[in-house]
Amino acid sequence: MMKLPARVKLVDVSPRDGLQNEKQPVPTPVKIELIARLQAAGVREIEATSFVSPQWVPQMADNAQVMRGIQRAKGMRCAVLIPNMQGLDAALAAPRAQWPDEIVIFGSASETFSRKNINCSIAESIERFRPVVAAARDQGLHVRAAMSCAVGCPYEGEIAPARVGLLAQMLKDIGTQEVALADTLGVGTPLKVQRALEATFAHFAVHHVCGHFHDTYGQALANTLASLALGVAQFDTSVAGLGGCPYAQGATGNVATEDVVYMLHGMGIETGIDLDQLIDAGVYISQALGRKSGSRAAMAVLNQRAG
Ligand code: HMG
Ligand code: MG
Repeated sequence: MMKLPARVKLVDVSPRDGLQNEKQPVPTPVKIELIARLQAAGVREIEATSFVSPQWVPQMADNAQVMRGIQRAKGMRCAVLIPNMQGLDAALAAPRAQWPDEIVIFGSASETFSRKNINCSIAESIERFRPVVAAARDQGLHVRAAMSCAVGCPYEGEIAPARVGLLAQMLKDIGTQEVALADTLGVGTPLKVQRALEATFAHFAVHHVCGHFHDTYGQALANTLASLALGVAQFDTSVAGLGGCPYAQGATGNVATEDVVYMLHGMGIETGIDLDQLIDAGVYISQALGRKSGSRAAMAVLNQRAG
């Protein structure tokens, strides 16, 4: 029997990763309502938006309005994605009550993806992030980093674990406190994910490592379980399975939060989340976007409710 954590922390990234790739503009009040409904379901970690260039990702241009509109439940921690100093300055231009608790910087284990996504090399991105991490930590913010293309890249194919280890080391050296191992394309399979995780553990303790799995090839739950088996106890997930990166063509959404909650609760692992209310949050955003939920567990429960 594998030893599993008793409790797992889920960070719902749907307002950011989930919506950033939407072609139709999603009204700001809909984003704020999604965040309210996630909180009502007991989600206490939410990646609310990104402070990236609106020329690169127009959907996130309302970042300041989203941060202003969020009513935070007790214990709620709010994260935002930050690409550079300009993004951090913009996030901290608001009154302190509207600041994020955590920033997420994002590097890539693939050189080509780094250039496509943030317009610089991996080494340049680290130098760009160095003052961002220092300034954020000075202000008492927690700093996490996503490591994109940790198992595969849309441009370079398979990525060796050693490259993930190298990126993890560089992120650690500049003061990053936690890392999310991201399968951006959703091509990873469990043993590859475990090898990439092991390369990461050389630099970050297991309780400072998070899984971020896109589900393009239907592997994300298996990859989640493979990570749990190594002791990883936090995951980025997206309600209704929304998501994708505009610079990773063909990649679908993150693993659905509902599916992960169903799996974890079924294994006796606590999340603090109410699955029924979470499903309602997923229905809300799916209807707002005019499509069916990408969560298998949500569809099963909804069919049962209808029957
Ligand atoms: P650049 O064009 O090299 O930047 O982009 P620049 O410094 O030359 O500036 C160009 C223009 O952008 C200027 O405006 C700047 O002011 C503006 P102009 O003078 O032309 O009017 N600008 C900004 N505006 C607002 N906020 C900012 C900002 N920075 C510059 N922060 C840059 C470089 C990094 C900005 C750009 O490439 C960018 O924004 N990239 C972000 C792309 C992105 O958001 N991708 C999706 C998120 S990552 C992801 O989904 C992966 C993840 O989920 C994990 C996984 O699954 O792998 C995290
Ligand atoms: Mg992602």
